[in-house]
Amino acid sequence: MRYHDLKKTVFSDSAPQSIMNSSSFKKDFPLLAKQNIFYLDSAATSQKPLVVLKQMEKFYKEKNANPHRGIYSLSEAATKAYENSREVVAKFINAKPTEIVFVKNATEAINLVAISWGKKNLQKEDRIVLSEMEHHSNIVPWQQVALETGAIIEKIPLNTDHSALDMAEYVRLFFPQRMSEKNSKYKKKVKIVGTIHISNVLGTINPINEMTRIAHQNGALILVDACQSTGHLPLDVKELDVDFLVFSGHKMFGPSGIGVLYAKEEHLKNMPPFLTGGDMIKTVSWEKSTWADLPHKFEAGTPPVAEAVGLAAAIEYISSIGFSAIHSHENDLTRMLHKELAAIEGVIVLGPSLKTARGALVSFDVNNVHPHDVASILNESKVCIRSGHQCAMPLHTSLNLAASCRASISIYNIEEDITALVAGLTRVKEVFRL
Ligand code: ALA
Repeated sequence: MRYHDLKKTVFSDSAPQSIMNSSSFKKDFPLLAKQNIFYLDSAATSQKPLVVLKQMEKFYKEKNANPHRGIYSLSEAATKAYENSREVVAKFINAKPTEIVFVKNATEAINLVAISWGKKNLQKEDRIVLSEMEHHSNIVPWQQVALETGAIIEKIPLNTDHSALDMAEYVRLFFPQRMSEKNSKYKKKVKIVGTIHISNVLGTINPINEMTRIAHQNGALILVDACQSTGHLPLDVKELDVDFLVFSGHKMFGPSGIGVLYAKEEHLKNMPPFLTGGDMIKTVSWEKSTWADLPHKFEAGTPPVAEAVGLAAAIEYISSIGFSAIHSHENDLTRMLHKELAAIEGVIVLGPSLKTARGALVSFDVNNVHPHDVASILNESKVCIRSGHQCAMPLHTSLNLAASCRASISIYNIEEDITALVAGLTRVKEVFRL
């Protein structure tokens, strides 16, 4: 099933057969099966299915050795396990294995691009365009590289109801006339666009195909932060035609400590290494070093082998359920969550209305109550939500909020999780006499 078909069929009002009350997936997750909690913070990190934990344990028990180094069979088994995981990841997003770089997390992947590609390609007054709904991980690395290169950061603003990006303004950022306006500080072209696929705060699904087409028509590259879409939507980097795409393993049932940078091979070939040292070289002499072939040029030091094995197991788990079932379940629950929250007096729901497709999360504000107080009262009833600036301070400033609350949905959630959240919010209102 392709992403566009999925959007049409799954995010419609008449949701396919509901499995909202199915607890069939919960039993796959040992932590949830054992602890009586209402876990609504999967957008921060997902719980881990037993199959992932078992595969990692199996690796350590049966194949643990340093890959790419030993000539003995055990080291070869570790190399095979690591490289097989890369192939699984590549297939998952329709990339070539040479285009998959394993990193620590999505933040490291963006730093890699900003530092390696950015320092080589950005010059004074070149422009970096970022959406107003970016996570800090797709702002701060660009700010740092802009300080060093003299490049300028511009933002794609939100539309008037703060539910999506203002695409007319996005197009306007590329207008050459703007560069010739008198005293314009914008003298040079947009070199790169950075955007989140699904906003971790608003739940907005950004139009990546359209944004990519416009960027490319104007000679710019595009980097997509897919942290909130991987594992929820099928992604095909060839169809999206993006230049860079990043995600973290831990938000998609995989372990922490592993993330992925996808980059078109032509870019990786032309980028200098990011971290240097062992395993990323071809030759080293006192005079100079040469680099290993792709993607190893970007993987210095002993790699996270067990984590890569865990990520591959997570992808196999996702594939065994299938995106149609994942979306049917998440969409039903997200719609219920949205409706229930919006019906509570004094609660303001952020992001798109129910008429628009959205990611599996809903952020909200409880009038006059600090989100940390809300989360702390919910914790008394074992309801786990995210509260705070959600690593998106500039977005919260635009929304005129210091912080917000967020409930997010995964395959293991059931109706009772939402009922518990709603009951907890009634308690919050009682405590604060709202
Ligand atoms: N990026 C994670 C979140 O949105 C931590 O909660």
